[in-house]
Amino acid sequence: MRDLFDRIHENKGPLGKWASQAEGYFVFPKLEGPISNRMKFKGKEVITWSVNDYLGLANLPEIRKVDAEAALEYGSAYPMGARMMSGHTDLHEQLEQELATFVDKEAAYLLNFGYQGILSTVDTLVSKDDVIVYDVDAHACIVDGVRLHLGKRFTYQHNNVESLEKNLKRATKVAEQTGGGILVISEGVFGMRGEQGKLKEIAALKKQYNFRFLVDDAHGFGTLGENGKGAGNEQGVQDQIDVYFATFAKSMASTGAFVAADKEIIDYLKYNMRSQMFAKSLQMQLVKGALKRLDMLRTRPDLKAKLWENVDALQNGLKEKGFDIGTTQSCVTPVYLKGSIPEAMALVKDLRENYGIFCSIVVYPVIPKGLILLRLIPTATHTLEDIQITLDAFASIREKLENGTYKRLSESVTA
Ligand SMILES: Cc1ncc(COP(=O)(O)O)c(C=O)c1O
Repeated sequence: MRDLFDRIHENKGPLGKWASQAEGYFVFPKLEGPISNRMKFKGKEVITWSVNDYLGLANLPEIRKVDAEAALEYGSAYPMGARMMSGHTDLHEQLEQELATFVDKEAAYLLNFGYQGILSTVDTLVSKDDVIVYDVDAHACIVDGVRLHLGKRFTYQHNNVESLEKNLKRATKVAEQTGGGILVISEGVFGMRGEQGKLKEIAALKKQYNFRFLVDDAHGFGTLGENGKGAGNEQGVQDQIDVYFATFAKSMASTGAFVAADKEIIDYLKYNMRSQMFAKSLQMQLVKGALKRLDMLRTRPDLKAKLWENVDALQNGLKEKGFDIGTTQSCVTPVYLKGSIPEAMALVKDLRENYGIFCSIVVYPVIPKGLILLRLIPTATHTLEDIQITLDAFASIREKLENGTYKRLSESVTA
């Protein structure tokens, strides 16, 4: 019999096998200093395009003050226990009420983390007779939620309403046989390529098909819609979204998440969602911090305006220089280049070391072979100077990519 760890000794996994070459640089890099447009990487200042602090809340003095005062008042323990047992407080309830009002839903429920939270929401909403229909590009947390489902599931092609309809027809047939219902899942904004989910078109299908609609709006909350109420508000269909989810880990610059829906549905989740019933309550520092952050969303529209000024300057600048930024409809700014993985590594190294630009890089197998995706996340803390420096740097690295500089560099490294 094999030892359980034999497989791990032999195969470190699709990403893990690159660890010795990539760790500390391309993966698990250490960005240091206060979260802002400029941070330090390996001791040198870089323009940071890789943190989702969209509104620049992370390091605002008034936010830091509330976080620090809450830590002083409550420590990191309070409240202890799961909400249901001993971890419930007035402030948890207040935050839920304020979040529900903000996203135009009857009720909301706090989640300790976005990932486990939505995974568990999917798990709780369906029984084995129900059918899930979800976008094939859905985030890993949605996929993991679907994995727990004991009944049928169908994927539809990314943001393709025709494909969704085809799968809704299949799902309807199954549900008619099992006596179950249908849950459709989309993201509000797809975080890799920046496209908004086709929420309006999906909601319109409710006229013909009987389904409930769950939207993960991790990247839309805080960045889209009136005061950052999200992608559903932006597209005018928030009332058609039956279950709305957002995390505090992006625009809110914190930890935690929430789900919002009709009160009856939220009550059901409160009494049946395993990840919250059997886990410690969100700690008070995060609750008080989220109340303050939500207040900033409501009262500081200038932060979202500044974010979008930067998004427009960056995206228009890239387009003017002839870069392919795909079909983004959000702050997420992908730049597609053509090249091999070794070329991509040399290019990113050059960007970081010689141009002081830090952005994330995505290559095969996440995107097709031969493509390099540089992903830029503009925030309200960036300046027009940061953007100009970045645009010039990108023009320069593209030239080097095209004239074979990175190919030669990568060959000399491997030779
Ligand atoms: C679409 C989406 N959903 C959920 C999550 C998970 O949120 P959290 O970081 O709060 O666990 C993320 C974070 O990357 C995300 O992009």
